[in-house]
Amino acid sequence: MKFFVDSADLDQIAALNDIGLVDGVTTNPSIIAKSGRDFKEVVAEICALVEGPVSAEVIAMDTDGMLAEGRELRKIADNICVKLPLTMEGLKACKIFSREGISTNVTLCFSANQALLAAKCGASFISPFIGRLDDITQDGIELIEDIRMIYDNYGYETEILAASIRNVNHIKDCALVGADVITSPPDVIRKMANHPLTDAGLAGFMKDWKKTGQTIL
Ligand code: G3P
Repeated sequence: MKFFVDSADLDQIAALNDIGLVDGVTTNPSIIAKSGRDFKEVVAEICALVEGPVSAEVIAMDTDGMLAEGRELRKIADNICVKLPLTMEGLKACKIFSREGISTNVTLCFSANQALLAAKCGASFISPFIGRLDDITQDGIELIEDIRMIYDNYGYETEILAASIRNVNHIKDCALVGADVITSPPDVIRKMANHPLTDAGLAGFMKDWKKTGQTIL
């Protein structure tokens, strides 16, 4: 499973990247606003930091505008993935970019039918928002499961990029149902390493080791 970081915080991305846990990065207009940074500048820095795809989202609502913005964003770096909204205009732009071999991430997906359309339009990634579905008492993981089955039924190569991850169980459940990628806030990825029995076990080992009076180095 690939891990993308859903953030524009360079320090957080770099820290996880150093461990080898970053296969890509996703941003959206809200994340860029939160960073307080210039959009192109911060995305360029992220692209220089990580090898994998870095999603940068268009703002235009019409296909021509999306194409123009997407082409502009692609000038930033080769690993820019153009993020497009799941609208008919966005799907049209997706198909055109797909024919040109430009990587795309179709975002704001909340149904299996939307995901099917994105695959038919050659999206590189589809981003179902599981946390936001859970927020309205719909099952986000069930959506990932449905998309997995549909894509496998027809051999679509669009990668399922589970987004709107809110907790560690989301990541585990996405892995169980076969999402190709998760994009997660950095702190949720860090929390995956935590377990109280690990802490307690380590404390016990350290206490007993002290009794031996030995050193390794
Ligand atoms: O990748 C999309 C993601 O950032 C949305 O997350 O928590 O705003 O629903 P959230």
